Amino acid sequence: MVITATGERLPQVVYWGERLPLGEDLVTLHNAYAIDVTGGMLDENPNLSLSPEASRTFPGQPGLIVRSQDGTPLLPKFCFESVENGKDLTIRYRDEENGLTLTFEFITDAETHIIRSKTVLNTDNPVHLHWLAAPVVPAPQASDEMIDFTGRWCGEFQTNRTAWSPGIRYRENRTGRTGHEHFPGLIIPCSGATNTLGEAYAFHYGWSGGHRMVAEELPDGRRQIQWGHAARMEHDAATEFSTAPLYMTYSNEGMNGCALSFQRHVRDRIVTWPKPDRPRPVHYNCWEAVYFDHKLDVLCDIADRAAKLGAERFVLDDGWFGNRDDDTRALSDWEVDPRKYPDGLTPLIDHVKSLGMSFGIWFEPEMINPDSNIHRAHPDWALGAEDQLLGRQQKAINMALPEVRDFIYDRMSSILANHDIDYIKWDHNRVLPMPDAAQTRGSYRLIDRLREQFPNVEIESCASGGGRIDFGILERTQRVWLSDSNDALERLNIQHNAALFLPLSITGSHVGPRRCHTSGRIFDISFRAWVAAQRHMGFEMDPRELDDYETRVLTEVTSWWKHNRDWMEDADILRLDSHDPAVIAEQQMPRSGDRFVVFAGKAATSAQIAPRPLRLTGLNPHAMYEVNLANRLTASHLSRGMPALKDGPITVSGAYLMRYGVTLPWSFPDTMWVLEGKRL
Ligand code: GLA
Repeated sequence: MVITATGERLPQVVYWGERLPLGEDLVTLHNAYAIDVTGGMLDENPNLSLSPEASRTFPGQPGLIVRSQDGTPLLPKFCFESVENGKDLTIRYRDEENGLTLTFEFITDAETHIIRSKTVLNTDNPVHLHWLAAPVVPAPQASDEMIDFTGRWCGEFQTNRTAWSPGIRYRENRTGRTGHEHFPGLIIPCSGATNTLGEAYAFHYGWSGGHRMVAEELPDGRRQIQWGHAARMEHDAATEFSTAPLYMTYSNEGMNGCALSFQRHVRDRIVTWPKPDRPRPVHYNCWEAVYFDHKLDVLCDIADRAAKLGAERFVLDDGWFGNRDDDTRALSDWEVDPRKYPDGLTPLIDHVKSLGMSFGIWFEPEMINPDSNIHRAHPDWALGAEDQLLGRQQKAINMALPEVRDFIYDRMSSILANHDIDYIKWDHNRVLPMPDAAQTRGSYRLIDRLREQFPNVEIESCASGGGRIDFGILERTQRVWLSDSNDALERLNIQHNAALFLPLSITGSHVGPRRCHTSGRIFDISFRAWVAAQRHMGFEMDPRELDDYETRVLTEVTSWWKHNRDWMEDADILRLDSHDPAVIAEQQMPRSGDRFVVFAGKAATSAQIAPRPLRLTGLNPHAMYEVNLANRLTASHLSRGMPALKDGPITVSGAYLMRYGVTLPWSFPDTMWVLEGKRL
C-alpha cells in the first residue's frame, strides 16, 4: 500500500495490491497517479483521500460528517500535523479552525497479509458525530462487480453480486446488531477471478453494532470504499470518536487468498484461546432435544448417550433459570430454577463430568422479558421506549448503564464461580430498538470483565444463529453459532460462504435431528455427520432417536474428526471451483501442504449424467499425491461402474489434480464424498 500526500493536504492511497519492487520510486508513483482534466471538470481533481472532504469539492460521499454541539454543520479542512512511521503507521491531521484532530492508524501483518486500520477523531469541544469513515481506500478499476452479504434466520451468508456503475452501493445496518442480514464483509474480485484464480480485494469491519458500507463510483470513474459504524449511532456529543478496526487484504490467488488471510488472522491474531493446545472438543447441545423441558434424569440419559457417541462438552441451553418454561418470560432472572433443579445444577454437572465431558451453559445477558422479576423491579433498565415493538417477547437491557452491567455481572459470575463451567453460549435474540453504539460498547465491557475474572471460560457468540458474527465479537469469543439451521444441505451452503472469512476452529456445526426442526427435511446420518465434520463438530439432536445404523455412522465420523482435528484446526479452507453447480466442494489443507481433505457435497441432482472432474487447488504441481476416498463404502447401488477411486487409492501428480481433477463416483443428491490426500 502506497500512501502519499500533496503539501499539507490529506493523504491518499495511490496504490495497493501486489507487492511492488523495492526500487519503485514513490514520488513517481504519486505523480503518475494524477488523472487528467478536460472540459466540464474542475481545474484539478479533488483527492480521494483517507477522509474525503466536502470542503475540497469532493464529488462523492465525505469521510466525516460532524456538527457542533448547537447543531451547526462543520466543514472540516485538515492540514498535516505528524506522521509516525515505524512498524505501524500513524498519520495525524488537524483542522485548527474547528478544533478537530483526525488520526489514521495502519497496522500490517506480514504473515497473514491483513492490514488493520482505523480512524480516530479528537475534538477541542464536544461535537455530534453523524459519520466517521475508517481510512478510505480506492477500489480496483479492473473489476466488474462486488460481492457483499445478506441473509436471514436459518439462511446466513448469502452472497450478492452487484455490478459497478456510477453511483453508490450503500449498505447500512440500523439494527444495532451485526445481524443475519448484514455480515460486514465485501469482496471485490478483479475481472475473471474465481475462488482459485485471479486477483481480489476484500474487507471486513470488526464491529457488532451495525455498520455502513459505501462502495461508490465517482463521475470521473474513480471508486472509493468507506466503512464505519452506522450513521448517527452516537447519541451524545463527545470529544473522542473512533471507528472499529477495518480489516483489508489483497490476493493474486483468487478469492481463496483473501479467505485464508482472514481465516488465519481470525484464528491466530484475533481470537484468544484459554488453552491454545487443547483440541476443540466435540460438542453436545441439548436445545433441539428438550427445548425448555428440562428433567434431570432425561438430561443425564442424553449425556450418557452423547458421551458414547464421542461428545466431550455438554452444553445446557435455554430453560434452566427463573421460571423459563417458554420464550415469553424470565430473561434477566439468572438464577437456577428450583422447580427443575431442586438441588441446583451440581448433580447434572457432576454427572456430565463423570462421563469425561466439560459443561457449558446458555445465557442471553443483554435481554430482559417484561414478564420477569428484574423488569418488574427495574422497568427503567430496559432499552428503548415503553411502547416499542418486542422481539421474541423481549427487550434489550440498557448496557450503557453501569448498574445494569454490574447486576448482570454479579448474576453471571455467581453461576460461574459456584459451578464447574468452562463454556458460555452467549445469545442475543433480537435487534435493538434503535442503533446505539453505547449498547455495543457496554456489551463488550461486560464480556471483557467476565473474561478477566474467568479466563478459562470459552464463549460462543450466538444471535438466533449467526446474527452476531464479526471480528469485534471474535476478539472476545472463541466460537460462533453459524446458524440455527441444522439442515445439512443449508449448512453446506452457509458454511461454504462463511469460509470466505471464518476458519474451522471457530465455526460451530452440529448434527441435527433426523427430520430437521427448521426445514422439515430428512437427511441420511452420513450426510448430516460429514457436513458437521467440516467445521467444529457437535451434535444437537435427541440421541434417543438414533437407530443402530445412525449410531454406528455418527460414532465413526466423529472418531474420524477427532483423528484429524489436530491438523484440520490449523488448516486453510480453500473453496474449490466446481464446474458442476450441484457440487459444493472445499479442500482443507495445512500450510505445510503435506496432506489435505476434500469435502465434495452434492447439493442437488446434476444436469449432466456423469460427475464432472473436480479440480483441486494449492498443490505442488511437481509432487505426487496419494488420493483416497474415505467413505467409498457409502457409494449408492446406482453407481454401477468402477471409476478408479471407487476401487482404491490413486497416485497422481499435483499438476494432474489441479489441471484435470478427480473423477468421483456417481452419487445421490444430499450426499458427501470425502477425499483424503497425502503428498508422497
Ligand atoms: C436462539 C439460539 C438457539 C437457542 C435458543 C434458545 O434461538 O439461536 O440456538 O439457544 O435461542 O432460546
